[in-house]
Amino acid sequence: MKKRILTGDRPTGQLHLGHYVGSLKNRIEMQHSHEQFVMIADAQALTDNYDHPEKIRSNIFEVMLDYLAVGIDPSKSTIFIQSQIPQLFELTFYFLNMVTYNRLKHNPTVKMEMQQKGMEETVTAGFMIYPVSQAADIALFGGEVIPVGADQMPIIEQTNEIVRRFNSVYHTDVLKEAQPLLSLCPRLPGADGKAKMSKSLGNALTLSASFKEIEEVVKKMYTDPAHLRVEDPGKVEGNVVFTYLDAFDPDLNRVKELKDHYQRGGLGDMTLKRHLIQVLENCVAPFRENRERLKQNPQMVLDLLQEGTSRAKKEGQRKLEEIKDAMRINYRLDHFSTMR
Ligand code: TRP
Repeated sequence: MKKRILTGDRPTGQLHLGHYVGSLKNRIEMQHSHEQFVMIADAQALTDNYDHPEKIRSNIFEVMLDYLAVGIDPSKSTIFIQSQIPQLFELTFYFLNMVTYNRLKHNPTVKMEMQQKGMEETVTAGFMIYPVSQAADIALFGGEVIPVGADQMPIIEQTNEIVRRFNSVYHTDVLKEAQPLLSLCPRLPGADGKAKMSKSLGNALTLSASFKEIEEVVKKMYTDPAHLRVEDPGKVEGNVVFTYLDAFDPDLNRVKELKDHYQRGGLGDMTLKRHLIQVLENCVAPFRENRERLKQNPQMVLDLLQEGTSRAKKEGQRKLEEIKDAMRINYRLDHFSTMR
């Protein structure tokens, strides 16, 4: 039997190149050998955007376009909208009993996000518990393999703690532990080389970036500040242009030659950057074209989303029954009569 994948993204904006190397690439490959569920995590996105539901609403469509444009194939993968699966929220409520409040407060992913978003003082209960809701996403869809970026590792770990606790408390094995699948290049830095690529930091290239946008971002990319003259030897480590070439240039030998040349001296930053611009353009151009074409037919895109969501809903209903049986809370009237 094919192993199950459950994965997803928050629809807070268009997806960017960081998403592509971090997990989309894996999902596109794995959808052939796995049974894949891809979730547009709108409810999770609302945990820190609850006051802007229209932003999340409109980005559901954008993310769906991105998925289809990069090659997530709706005949192979079930793409669905999280908020339309009520069983997820029911399971979250039961899962909340499987984790201590203290443990939640120490989840590194949540702590980092709180810091980045300056919400230390104002964090809501909903945001604090989103890792538990994510555990429910994974468990309800029986996710065994989770293609995600490295920042999500603590959440997968916490999911497995919840799964083990659940199975031991209810003497069952209905829930499976999940394994993260990291890409070889799990974390793409922003053009400044400091933070990870992220839309909110303004250093990200979307999957439909124009040639001009690619040029602009690459031109201001951080290289080696000590590499002043073309003939000087330059450093490869920490040089963002090379990090991107490692992630995007399919010709590994060429990247190696460029690195050697740069370290020897004689390869200018501008020549190097022009090469990267072309490499990124080759990657993005087909996505950009697919996206344009798909945008001409919004009804078809919405229909695909509707179909995926219906399929996911059936799967969620089935699995929740199984889980409630294991918890022995799936009361039926005949049980009630013997209980009284
Ligand atoms: N937390 C993920 C993100 O920040 C989105 C997500 C929600 C997810 N549920 C998931 C990822 C389950 C993998 C598995 O984009």
